[in-house]
Amino acid sequence: MNLDELLAQAQQELSSLSSADQIEAFRIKYLGSKGLLKVASDQLKSLPNDQKRAYGAKLNSVKQAVQSGYDAAKDRLGSSAGSAEVLVDITEPGRITFGDYHPGSLHIVHQTIDALTELFGRMGFSIAQGPELEDEFHNFEALNVPRHHPARDPLDNFYLQRPSGAAPFMLRSQTSSVQIRVLETHKPPVRIIAPGRVYRPDTVDATHSFMFHQIEGLVVDEDITMVDLKTCIDQFAKAFFGADVETRFRPSFFPFTEPSAEFDVRFHYADGSSKWVELGGCGMVDPNVLETVKIDPEKYTGFAFGLGVERIAMRKHGIEDIRLLFENDVRFLKQF
Ligand code: DAH
Repeated sequence: MNLDELLAQAQQELSSLSSADQIEAFRIKYLGSKGLLKVASDQLKSLPNDQKRAYGAKLNSVKQAVQSGYDAAKDRLGSSAGSAEVLVDITEPGRITFGDYHPGSLHIVHQTIDALTELFGRMGFSIAQGPELEDEFHNFEALNVPRHHPARDPLDNFYLQRPSGAAPFMLRSQTSSVQIRVLETHKPPVRIIAPGRVYRPDTVDATHSFMFHQIEGLVVDEDITMVDLKTCIDQFAKAFFGADVETRFRPSFFPFTEPSAEFDVRFHYADGSSKWVELGGCGMVDPNVLETVKIDPEKYTGFAFGLGVERIAMRKHGIEDIRLLFENDVRFLKQF
């Protein structure tokens, strides 16, 4: 039988299949290991070389046509209501070809938070959380930021008016608020990190967004000194960015730490150059903060630090515009 006849015959039979048994018989006759298509394949060997190519191509298309006709017949029968003969194996994986399979992945900011919390977890920190909708006490007052401090300017914060003169709420502008939340409810020793969203009405550009993520760190115990802080930051930087980075502290000011510093990480590049990059703020917890949450500053000391997650993710992956992180263009996101 030549291939055209074989196909014509198969198509005719396909159109009259009406039970699972007939479909199975069709499969054995055409597609089975001793079926007509196998016989047709075997003929390839005995053909003269100059005919092999054309025959092979034709054979493939006939095979495909018969197979898809068979699949369609199976589906048709499978979906006809009340057909008791077709069993569906619900444990069978879906028919998905790999190229169409998009399982998705965690967002790069989420991945970065996971990596950082995992790393600090290994350094003995637990994870703490606080609300994004905060009050001024936790976001400012208890952190030693007094009423008329410029950081509290309405132009620099998202305040939410409340009815009848009640104190406003705000979207927290820093995860430092979680320091207070934790110290109100936990007595030292405390060793936590607090990842989360913060909000500031900044004009959006390549390095600013009105919402971004920070990770706050807080350690309070007896005999905690600046050496513990420096060691912690240095170990974190080396573990996260690689053993060849260096860290340095620059004196700075934050209301809730004294002394305060900003810390930089130095990256070395293949061409021999290097660059210091600012990563975050830190310092020794101000005794006023401890007093506010009724912890004795004569007995306990502590350190705190705050990191910008987007900045770290961008640095680590060479991303130059923060907006890419929030536009949710899948072509960008799926690279990570
Ligand atoms: N909250 C500061 C900010 O958002 C960052 C910061 C600085 C956090 C020093 C700290 C710290 O815990 O000790 O700019």
